Amino acid sequence: MKGLILSGGKGTRLRPLTYTRAKQLTPIANKPVLFRVIEALCDAGITEIGIIIAADTGAEIQETVGNGSRWGVNITFIPQSAPLGLAHAVKTAQPFIGDDRFVMYLGDNVIQGGISSLIADFVNHPEWNSQIVLKHVEQPEQFGVAILSEDGRIKSLVEKPKSFISDLALIGVYMFDSHIFEAADAIKPSWRNELEITDAIQWLVQNGYNVYPHIHEGWWIDTGKQDDMLRANSYVLEELTPAINGTVDLQSSVDARVTIEAGAEVINSVIRGPAIIGEGTRIVNSYIGPFTSIYHHCTIEHCEIEYSIVLENSSIQDVDTRIQDSLIGRNVEIARGTQRPKALKLTLADYSKLGIQ
Ligand code: G1P
Repeated sequence: MKGLILSGGKGTRLRPLTYTRAKQLTPIANKPVLFRVIEALCDAGITEIGIIIAADTGAEIQETVGNGSRWGVNITFIPQSAPLGLAHAVKTAQPFIGDDRFVMYLGDNVIQGGISSLIADFVNHPEWNSQIVLKHVEQPEQFGVAILSEDGRIKSLVEKPKSFISDLALIGVYMFDSHIFEAADAIKPSWRNELEITDAIQWLVQNGYNVYPHIHEGWWIDTGKQDDMLRANSYVLEELTPAINGTVDLQSSVDARVTIEAGAEVINSVIRGPAIIGEGTRIVNSYIGPFTSIYHHCTIEHCEIEYSIVLENSSIQDVDTRIQDSLIGRNVEIARGTQRPKALKLTLADYSKLGIQ
């Protein structure tokens, strides 16, 4: 079995962060989402992984991920000429996949519990041509959806159905054998000018191939938007095994569900878990509340932060209103001025959002 991770996509819904970094490299619980996806494949025993990259973010992804040796796997980067759909990405990967069976995973999705059991299911059924992970969702019109037949197979699939046909959505984890290449060659682009993987799977069903579902009962998050990113952060933090590798002074109180990474310092502060404080970060005279990830080399002084993500090298000082529900990028400086007039002084990038109450 090989692994194929789709890591193109512009991340427009995560602007302005995605002006300067690929969305898949945004850390949740202090680890890039894409690394979590790679680790899910490694945990399932997959050692040959292809990553589909796009022209604008491909070089950065390649540089950050490397050749896979840190996970003990081989990673091959596969440039996609244009964002022409998931089935187009599959076609692009054909030389890498060859005749092998493979799992395809969207590189900005996080799924509870990993994918080892799903892969084992597919490996144990060599007669299955495809297995698709589905989940009951509240807004099926935003996804590809599937209808099941009485014998437990997938009967039909529709991409973004206009009227209700099923609440079982395709959640971005697919297993295929090489018949998917025939399917991707046979289908036509959709109204959004993409070769839809949903249409390719429908082609498999119509042509008599065995397509089975797996219904995922745990959580799953597509981290495309800020709210989803914060929610994914909170869920992953809840599952981290806490560890204190930095220093915490006697005046501080750090609860049991907190991870303090190497070289971090907590001074006269309160940290309520689940939370993570990154390498070399200093938390001074502050309160860090639940569901918060502060990344590497930040300084937080005289502040309260809760249910938020702060990325590397940022400094937040002397803010007397609690910061919450916030996604703060890299090298950001928030500080209290000392000179009159008393006013907000802002340098905000395009598409920034500032909530004032
Ligand atoms: C894509 C797929 C869709 C699937 C979704 C999962 O949608 O086309 O079938 O349900 O991913 O996140 P897109 O994100 O391109 O709208």
